[in-house]
Amino acid sequence: MSEIHPAILAHSENEFMTKVKKVRALGAPLHIDVMDGIFVQNTTWAPPERMQELLAGIVFEAHLMVANPEYVIPVWLAAGARRVIFHEETTTQAASLCRDNDRVSVALNPETPISHLSNECAHVCIMGVTPGWSGQPFQEIALEKIREIKKMYPAAHITVDGGARSENIRAIVDAGADVVVVGSAITDADDPAAVYQSFKEMLK
Ligand code: DX5
Ligand code: ZN
Repeated sequence: MSEIHPAILAHSENEFMTKVKKVRALGAPLHIDVMDGIFVQNTTWAPPERMQELLAGIVFEAHLMVANPEYVIPVWLAAGARRVIFHEETTTQAASLCRDNDRVSVALNPETPISHLSNECAHVCIMGVTPGWSGQPFQEIALEKIREIKKMYPAAHITVDGGARSENIRAIVDAGADVVVVGSAITDADDPAAVYQSFKEMLK
């Protein structure tokens, strides 16, 4: 069955912890959005050296929307991230980054074709939005890309990030997503647990 990973996109420690507290009881792995203001025109509060303390007992992955990910990936792996996702658009080293560690995944922006995927990368994150902000509409091209990846690489593990909500989450999973990252639809909800449970129901 597909998994739902709540996204934490925060600009301060206070916002980070407020969002974590909203979703920690769900027991789902958390998706931590990391932005550097260079690869994307936004920054987030997500210091890797604080994660062991702030996310004690919580499984988490780090989504690195940063330039020069080669330098940051080892830091997040050492910080305890179960998975670290970098962007294909930020490096010429995607194949070797994936080859070196099976906890490393590659993400593709909506406009990046799947021909840019290296067959060394078994874990792929297809962006449903242009990275930088939560709450954007889902770009339907992501569904086509998921289906194509499933055809080309049937064993690929596919995460979809951005724009997922009640109207499209079933279609995202039907296209082949193993993990759906959900930000604002859960963290901005009055009752995040109810939304999470309703999404799980939709995916049964
Ligand atoms: C976009 C981030 C996403 C985002 C998801 O740059 O990588 O993880 O937080 O938020 P929603 O679900 O609101 O699009
Ligand atoms: Zn993300």
